[in-house]
Amino acid sequence: MKHAAFATVDAMVRALAPSYPVMCIYPAELRKSARAFLDGFPGRVLYAVKCNPDPQVIRILAEAGIRNFDTASLPEVALVKELLPDATCYFNHPVKNRAAIESAHHVYDVRHFVIDSHEELAKILACTGKAGGKAGDLVIQVRLATAPGYAAFDLSLKFGVPMEQASGLLRAVVAAGAQPALSFHVGSQCATPEAYEHALREAGTVLAAAGVVPAYVNVGGGFPAHYRGSSLLPLGAFFEAIGREVKALHLPAGTDTLCEPGRALVVEAGTLVVQVQLRKGDSLYVNDGIFGSLSELNVARLTPPTRLIRLSGPSANETREFRIFGPTCDSADVLPLPFVLPADAAEGDWIEIGQVGAYSNALASHFNGFYCDTTVTIGD
Ligand SMILES: Cc1ncc(COP(=O)(O)O)c(C=O)c1O
Repeated sequence: MKHAAFATVDAMVRALAPSYPVMCIYPAELRKSARAFLDGFPGRVLYAVKCNPDPQVIRILAEAGIRNFDTASLPEVALVKELLPDATCYFNHPVKNRAAIESAHHVYDVRHFVIDSHEELAKILACTGKAGGKAGDLVIQVRLATAPGYAAFDLSLKFGVPMEQASGLLRAVVAAGAQPALSFHVGSQCATPEAYEHALREAGTVLAAAGVVPAYVNVGGGFPAHYRGSSLLPLGAFFEAIGREVKALHLPAGTDTLCEPGRALVVEAGTLVVQVQLRKGDSLYVNDGIFGSLSELNVARLTPPTRLIRLSGPSANETREFRIFGPTCDSADVLPLPFVLPADAAEGDWIEIGQVGAYSNALASHFNGFYCDTTVTIGD
């Protein structure tokens, strides 16, 4: 992956005239969202690396003050620890490969893990060599299933222990000699603070039933991006609701609250510059698409902000809707909603697509040999 820095996206286009897609990272936006979480969230802020694992993104967030990372795999742990040896990784995937647990713990000193089953607890104790009551330096979070219906992407279909079984699992963590903690994820792109309120009340019921004092309560990710056209409450309303409900749990002083956002931290900090390869009527064929960096636009039916860039002169004031096709041979490679662009958009023009910092490069495939492997920073 090549990296370079430019003052503006237009300067990048003038310098590179890229015939390939370019992911543009705006460090100032990353710093702004990091500050919003660090100043506003009532507790410790982790970054969910899966959302955008670009090393530049991780480094800029770390410089902005985020030193804790939610990692879902050994490669993510390795990426963070090679870049930032002093950072703390939380291995917060409820189903882990044995070799990954071993290496995460023994090579990278990972001590925070998530489980949603007794089998995974046994696996972690065995792979860290901490069975037999020697697990005092491990913090094991029991992940609760959360209620569906609050978020665009529900995660509790796949992960999380039902409330009735959660206290037994928490007690098993204590019996193993590890420090117990509680976590959940209300689903990604969560529409309302009620989701966190509801989950935290359930967490309170589980903790009371278990008679366990947690090392911390991790409220996960799910904080929404303010995509164009959406009208959601500001992040502060989510933080306020979480702070209030955590207080109502009456946990001992010093018990921390954690969050591990991905989307809301990085969505505004990434744009994608694509080039028009062909215009056919009101259809534009561009060089990235739903099998590449734009799969979220398809799944979540988003219409991001767009801007035409032309080096040869001005574009028309009049606009029209264009159907946007990606570069692969699959006819499914088309965006679900049109882009509104200058009516004379043509081959060779570029389009800057905004609000694609989250789940874009992270989800891209190499289908048909097309992929974006150029990332630049803008405006730093
Ligand atoms: C365990 C966990 N934490 C955090 C995140 C980040 O969620 P979001 O991007 O919705 O903030 C995810 C996303 O899948 C996740 O699975």
